Amino acid sequence: MGSSQSFCWVLLFCLLLSGFVAQTHGKMKEQGLPPLRQSKLKPNFGFDTSLFEAVQAVNEDKFYVPQECTKEEDRIERLPGQPQVNFSQYGGYVTVDKAAGRALFYYFAEANNPNKDSLPLLLWLNGGPGCSSLAYGAMQELGPFRVRSDGKTLYANRFSWNYAANLLFLESPAGVGYSYSNTSSDYKTCGDRKTAADNYVFLVNWLERFPEYKNRPFYISGESYAGHYVPQLAHTILHHNKKANKTIINLKGIIIGNAVINQETDNRGMYDYFASHALISDEDAQKINKYCDFSPEAKHENRECNEATDAAGRDTYYLDIYNIYAPLCTMANYTTPQPKKVSIFNFDPCSDGYVYVYLNRPEVQEALHANVTKLTHDWEPCSDVITDWGDSPSTIIPLLRELMANGLRVWVFSGDIDGRVPVTSTKYSLNKMSLPVKTAWHPWYLNGEVGGYTEVYKGDLTFATVRGAGHQVPSYQPARAFSLIKHFLDGTPLPDTKRY
Ligand SMILES: *[C@@H]1O[C@H](CO)[C@@H](O)[C@H](O)[C@H]1NC(C)=O
Ligand SMILES: *[C@@H]1O[C@H](CO)[C@@H](O)[C@H](O)[C@H]1NC(C)=O
Ligand SMILES: *[C@@H]1O[C@H](CO)[C@@H](O)[C@H](O)[C@H]1NC(C)=O
Ligand SMILES: *[C@@H]1O[C@H](CO)[C@@H](O)[C@H](O)[C@H]1NC(C)=O
Ligand SMILES: *[C@@H]1O[C@H](CO)[C@@H](O)[C@H](O)[C@H]1NC(C)=O
Repeated sequence: MGSSQSFCWVLLFCLLLSGFVAQTHGKMKEQGLPPLRQSKLKPNFGFDTSLFEAVQAVNEDKFYVPQECTKEEDRIERLPGQPQVNFSQYGGYVTVDKAAGRALFYYFAEANNPNKDSLPLLLWLNGGPGCSSLAYGAMQELGPFRVRSDGKTLYANRFSWNYAANLLFLESPAGVGYSYSNTSSDYKTCGDRKTAADNYVFLVNWLERFPEYKNRPFYISGESYAGHYVPQLAHTILHHNKKANKTIINLKGIIIGNAVINQETDNRGMYDYFASHALISDEDAQKINKYCDFSPEAKHENRECNEATDAAGRDTYYLDIYNIYAPLCTMANYTTPQPKKVSIFNFDPCSDGYVYVYLNRPEVQEALHANVTKLTHDWEPCSDVITDWGDSPSTIIPLLRELMANGLRVWVFSGDIDGRVPVTSTKYSLNKMSLPVKTAWHPWYLNGEVGGYTEVYKGDLTFATVRGAGHQVPSYQPARAFSLIKHFLDGTPLPDTKRY
């Protein structure tokens, strides 16, 4: 096999099998007809799926990297087109490797709350791998602003999570969004281990720049492939706290949504979701159950399995698989000259395009202190420059167990109309953990309506669905998502009928 061909296989493997859950960009270019990045079994070809270990990830003499910027230099006066707000914003780079010239970009929105000095610090990560937390988390999901259809002006998100926490967004690894490396080979050697190590070095150095957050309760949140990033970063933090015998980072808990957790159950759950939501035929569903081996040990392709998953791919091709009931973006242009009427309750399927235009504006980049080195590629919601992904464990369940055993708060949520990492996948993955139930399954409420369902396990792990939400939960159900994060941060159970 030629090297370019074997490269393709490795990439295909990363993209398709190991939970490469690219987000919805591309829809625009496809004029609303997204190809399903179908999850399909391919042989492993030596791809590293071994369990995650932080031990070799970062050694102590590499923790602290000399930085050129200060907090005040990172202060954002005002984002172009933003409404008036009462909280401080910061944006800039943290160098994570001086020799390589590798720097990660962050955007930080302090809490919009008079008690901000006592509110926790919350980090949000998007997945992909290769997708930007600015593109999705900050600008389309839980951040303080959303971009209007003119690609120029912003409106306030009244369910922004910075009403409940000081909110940090990180573009990671280098090659995502504005984050970059001066050593271009870094883009070819990405993987889970390096991402966790860089994220850790980022955090330690970010806290040097913002020392008032050093002892603040710290939580990590994320969705999709961040189902890997979040527990891996948490594991790395615990590892170094233990090694140093002190609290370098005051980590209290993690929360992950529609998260890639366990390859085998994630894949099986996806096809079961297609079948139970009347997207594929019973015959194909039965064939998939009978002939597909989704286990990490599987070495051979199976013809019947491939035929059935191909058919499933064709059947779901014209859907937004990240929200099976959502309208598609059919606009030929990225933006409209006049901004469309907006509603926080009615997510615009063309939002990706508005954010793309906004974050590529030179004046926006200047305000954010982004792209100071004049990168040769544009800002993309999901990276075009990262071309390879070297390691991705087939499961992160051992990490979840470790975090629970260390007394961290662990919440797992699921928007129940996502077809990509659907609620069935998450339930199968959690079932694999065989945790004893502490609080039996029950609906949880917001404003007298069912916000979703929840079950709490001993140990402690809370599972919660968010009713009517796709893959990007806060985009589709901003009020329910806000209630969820508030209860998570407060450490209070989601309300049943007795309390709502
Ligand atoms: C900002 O705070 C001031 C004074 O507390 C208040 O009057 C104003 O309404 C606030 N503005 C916004 C946009 O929240
Ligand atoms: C990358 O190179 C540019 C140009 O030499 C330099 O200004 C910048 O500081 C470098 N980035 C890092 C993180 O060292
Ligand atoms: C860790 O620190 C505690 C107090 O902070 C001390 O009592 C203990 O002996 C230390 N353990 C080790 C192994 O150094
Ligand atoms: C789409 O783009 C074309 C060419 O740039 C422009 O003439 C047209 O007005 C745009 N349409 C909308 C709806 O923005
Ligand atoms: C950075 O700036 C250059 C020059 O203005 C621009 O061409 C490029 O698209 C920008 N890249 C990113 C990642 O923002």
